[in-house]
Amino acid sequence: MELDVDFVRAQFPAFAEPSLQGQAFFENAGGSYTCAPVIDRLTRFYHQRKVQPYGPYLASRLAGEEMDEARARLAALMGVQADELSFGPSTTQNTYVLAQAFRQWMQPGEAIVVTNQDHEANTGPWRRLAEDGIEIREWQVDPATGHLDPADLGNLLDENVRLVCFPHCSNVVGEINPVVEITAMAHAAGAFVCVDGVSYAPHGIADVGMLGPDIYLFSSYKTYGPHQGVMVIRRPLGEQLPNQGHYFNAEVLYKRFTPAGPDHAQVAACAGMVDYFDLLADHHGLTGTATERGAGVHDLMRGHEVKLLQPVLDFLSARNDLRLLGPARAEGRAPTVAVDLGRPAMPVAEALAAQGIMAGAGDFYAVRALQAMGVDPQQGVLRLSFVHYTSPDEIAQLLKALERVL
Ligand SMILES: Cc1ncc(COP(=O)(O)O)c(C=O)c1O
Repeated sequence: MELDVDFVRAQFPAFAEPSLQGQAFFENAGGSYTCAPVIDRLTRFYHQRKVQPYGPYLASRLAGEEMDEARARLAALMGVQADELSFGPSTTQNTYVLAQAFRQWMQPGEAIVVTNQDHEANTGPWRRLAEDGIEIREWQVDPATGHLDPADLGNLLDENVRLVCFPHCSNVVGEINPVVEITAMAHAAGAFVCVDGVSYAPHGIADVGMLGPDIYLFSSYKTYGPHQGVMVIRRPLGEQLPNQGHYFNAEVLYKRFTPAGPDHAQVAACAGMVDYFDLLADHHGLTGTATERGAGVHDLMRGHEVKLLQPVLDFLSARNDLRLLGPARAEGRAPTVAVDLGRPAMPVAEALAAQGIMAGAGDFYAVRALQAMGVDPQQGVLRLSFVHYTSPDEIAQLLKALERVL
């Protein structure tokens, strides 16, 4: 079965927006378009429910119920319990809070493994724990390919390691890391696992219960939703780490790592992402549990993306005036494609904009990864990123524009 891309695009108001006509969006890894169910819920919340939630009056009760609905339905999709999922302002703020919890929980001399493939959000906050005597061990990419080899992780693991942090997929290398295998290695060594799922989630929300990590993070503004960070912390870890919220909320798992009051409207609107995935599942005749339907939607999205991605990779690989970062085979990577042009990338992104291509240039906060691969972060990379709503026509438009500007 193939993804019905016309149906998909009909769920995104941006594709009917006159001011965006003729422009093809290729900076989705920075933030995606928002689906209609999210916009509808956000609008309804601000019109009808913008009161303090969880009170005894109707508008307040509905507001609270919708916030709980978002948490419960996202958790079901991800194969975890509702109180194992919480919302924060962003993934970076979520990792920052988590790092404070680990700072209190760990002893000097114990170790954390971080990578130099990650976006700074899942590496910088952990590295700062060195200030408190925590040993930081860096799992390094292959400088030629950007690949993270699990065998290298094996050499870093011992009984002192409490946590292993890595990305499901890097936002510049694009390669999909084998989360199940890496998690099993870390668990076997007695360490917990924190996965940055931000770059992967737009291509299918993960069944975290099946994948196995103790922490899994993603940003809903890149997955067709409002600007939130979504954080799964499995119970055995969440109950062990010191509470970072108000002391009187310590018994409520989903409040332990979100010290501030949440953005009520945006939390509520996150249920719209699940509405959208349900619409896709129903339209394509997918049945079963929430995670089974989610897996089916994931496969449909990936199938479409892989088909569209290979010609882009072939085009870029065939050129000798640039360097494609990450794998050249579509199956093993996300459609987040960074290229080192050997010159500043921004003027090229600007030239693409004049051709109706919305693309990004810069370091994308993956400074360590670029440096590890010998790319000058000042020059940056050109990044072309798309998702399942991208059409074959837009890919053709991109390739034509690249021919002109490269
Ligand atoms: C892979 C990855 N991780 C983390 C982040 C940070 O997410 P947030 O903006 O929600 O802090 C980003 C944002 O670009 C990202 O691409």
